[in-house]
Amino acid sequence: MDGVSALQASDELKGFSPLTEHMDRKGSSAVIEALKREQANAVQLYLQYKGYHWNVFGPSFHDLHLLFDTHATQVFEMIDELAERQRILGAPAEYTLEAMRAASKLVVEGKIPATPREMVEHLVASHRHVLSGLKGAFELADGAGDPGTSDLFARVIQAHEKMEWFLREILEKAPPVGGN
Ligand SMILES: [Fe+2]
Repeated sequence: MDGVSALQASDELKGFSPLTEHMDRKGSSAVIEALKREQANAVQLYLQYKGYHWNVFGPSFHDLHLLFDTHATQVFEMIDELAERQRILGAPAEYTLEAMRAASKLVVEGKIPATPREMVEHLVASHRHVLSGLKGAFELADGAGDPGTSDLFARVIQAHEKMEWFLREILEKAPPVGGN
């Protein structure tokens, strides 16, 4: 493209600002807030998983040590997607511990749980807490006409539901042998 054509092309682009359109869209600021909250929740949940991965003990140590790390990796990937979606919508993505602490709605006790079972119970509770916020976030993005974000929330919901299921099954008691 020569210099004149490039100038003409840039003139044609002057009236088009996808960033402005996104930011002016009704509901988008609420959607961005939800993304920031879910990013921060994911950071907190990631740390909870890693903390339990490091501190778990007992006869089921090997299985739980590996499971907690597998789930931590899945949650870690969510952080990236939730942050990048904010950039796609024209907002800055936060990256400090202070910002995460301010935005997170997930509270995790610093005290190491007394038993591995208690660790699993706490993680189930964390997933359920995060899921309740995510379902509202999905409705918000859907109502704001933002299918890209509602699809992201839906995928994150599915991942949480699957992790919650894995943990919930660990807590199930086996039926008595030959019992009715
Ligand atoms: Fe490790």
